[in-house]
Amino acid sequence: MSPLSTASPAHTADLVVFGGTGDLSMRKLIPALYHSDRDGRLSPETRVIAMSRGGLTDADFRGKVDAEVRDQVPVDDPAVWQRFLGRLHHVSVDVGGEDKSGWGALTRLLAGHEQRDRVFYLASPPMTFGPFCRELDEAGLVTPLSRVVLEKPLGRDLPSAQRINDEVGAIFDERQIFRIDHYLGKETVQNLLVLRFANAFLEPIWNSLWIDHVQITAAETVGTPGRRGYYDHAGALRDMVQNHLLQLLTLTAMEPPSRNDRESIRDEKVKVLQSLRPVVGTEVDRFTVRGQYTEADGMPSYLDEPASTPTTEASRRVETFTAIRAEIKNWRWAGVPFYLRTGKRMPYRRSEIVVQFKDVPHSIFPGGTPNRLVLRLQPEEGIELHIMAKEPGAGEVTLKPVPLSLSFGKTFTARVPEAYERLLTDVLAGNPTLFMRRDEVEAAWRWIDPILAAWESSADLPEPYPAGTTGPAGAHELLGRSGRAWHEEEDL
Ligand code: BG6
Repeated sequence: MSPLSTASPAHTADLVVFGGTGDLSMRKLIPALYHSDRDGRLSPETRVIAMSRGGLTDADFRGKVDAEVRDQVPVDDPAVWQRFLGRLHHVSVDVGGEDKSGWGALTRLLAGHEQRDRVFYLASPPMTFGPFCRELDEAGLVTPLSRVVLEKPLGRDLPSAQRINDEVGAIFDERQIFRIDHYLGKETVQNLLVLRFANAFLEPIWNSLWIDHVQITAAETVGTPGRRGYYDHAGALRDMVQNHLLQLLTLTAMEPPSRNDRESIRDEKVKVLQSLRPVVGTEVDRFTVRGQYTEADGMPSYLDEPASTPTTEASRRVETFTAIRAEIKNWRWAGVPFYLRTGKRMPYRRSEIVVQFKDVPHSIFPGGTPNRLVLRLQPEEGIELHIMAKEPGAGEVTLKPVPLSLSFGKTFTARVPEAYERLLTDVLAGNPTLFMRRDEVEAAWRWIDPILAAWESSADLPEPYPAGTTGPAGAHELLGRSGRAWHEEEDL
């Protein structure tokens, strides 16, 4: 089985989801599991056990899933849907509290199934990871066939990430720990590896001799309604850059691994993170930009978003947008900036990696540029090579940038699975290739921490940008200073 393939036959498993009735579970995990079941990738005996404070019975939980999830997924055969509901269970648990009855109930449910794979999925806040693992251990529920899945954010800086890793590592071996970053489950991300390492033509030009710079953007139109409690203490840097954007950077910049196995790819990724040039001191002002959206076109400002917690100083200081110029100090990439950008309430939802090749050394035509490879993760996954072509017509030669496109949706008839579906399949198959190793997460924090520290000690607030725009002026200056510009759709 290839580690990148997720269509592996699943073993019978008990999947225990902490935070099992929460937003992530109801919007992503349960639909993904249903898709796996429908496609025949769950063994008949596999069970899903949701843990929450909710006080629900199995029947209540099945009713909740029926009411809230059925409309999100294609139910073409009601019998398959009923079979799926039959796999669901619910156990109420009081984490860290006096009432241990929930752990007893879970123990009874799992008893006699020690030979099954056991997956504990922690879709709960990071401060619960350590306590959950301890309680599982004390209840004697951690078997040699157990795995634990940790959702992001893994800490809020290097020391807290190390603490969590230590706490979880005291109970589970590193090979049993699956740190999830759902961007790694996206089709284009895996295609990036195939594009780079299954085609010979890119490798000779994949370096500073040919590449001018790389842009990695994750733009969202959504704001943060209802999320202030979390977002005030996260911000775009922790929420998106430390994990998703840096993961995309590592896959773009890594050296060819010698094998397609669980450690070789991760070994190469971590080397990239360790080669990032630290952004420290006065460089933080020059190489990073933070912004916060303000009211515009009927959209509220960040501070006026509906929230269950009041606005505080932390709300005024948190960034909903960030742009960073990163550099990788090695032979391949010296002198090639990697620009990272992410923001809420931007004019479009788009995640992409743009590799900008250098201009021709001597141009004989007026105009020019593209020479650009765009790997799009969303909205539509695909790959575009932007080239210069001659516009048809007699007379003077006029150049026009045009895309050579590969749309996965149009080229392949198979359904493109959601990121969580692929990753859950990999967890159930015990394949950790697309999950972050401890050293990767910690190397990412090591690079992020000085930026956070400089922002936190600065008297400046994030630059305002009107909701629905491409971020504050500073983000454009960050590239403009070296005569570059962010890639926008209208460029073609
Ligand atoms: C999550 C962040 O990890 O990723 C969210 O916490 C963000 O703030 C989301 O909206 C974006 O994911 P996607 O797959 O929609 O790009």
